[in-house]
Amino acid sequence: MRVLVINGPNLNFLGIREKGIYGSLDYSDLLQLLEKRAEERKITLETFQSNCEGEIIDRIQKAYYDSVDGIIINPGAYTHYSYAIRDALASLAVPKIEVHISNVHGREEFRQASVTAPVCTGQIVGLGLQGYLLAVDAVVGIIEENRKES
Ligand code: DQA
Repeated sequence: MRVLVINGPNLNFLGIREKGIYGSLDYSDLLQLLEKRAEERKITLETFQSNCEGEIIDRIQKAYYDSVDGIIINPGAYTHYSYAIRDALASLAVPKIEVHISNVHGREEFRQASVTAPVCTGQIVGLGLQGYLLAVDAVVGIIEENRKES
């Protein structure tokens, strides 16, 4: 089973940016946590981070050609306005989980809307880096369920 985790703009700045909101662990700590969970769940996990909208879209399209089984995405600020990333996500029929480290619903009004969540299977918000690990468990569970049904 092959799962791709995409992080959008400024998530490479974890541990540097707004620690009160995003915590003090950095992006490489997040990658380590994800690698450990992937080993435990015996899945192949790929990770990708970019500050550029087009690169994120290219990576989502590559996931289609690579036959990735599921996607976990934190689109960062693109969440709130990127119809292009939304369209790219909508192209793929695989399970997709949107993750936000912070509780976007308790923050500025512009963060409370997600244009990408409606084309995702589900959304996890406000649980810190734990949210990514829960998303791995969720996406693996959904893929397994879908396989049993087909
Ligand atoms: C974020 C929330 C977004 O509003 C923000 O622009 C980010 C991070 C989160 O994980 O909480 O960059 O996606």
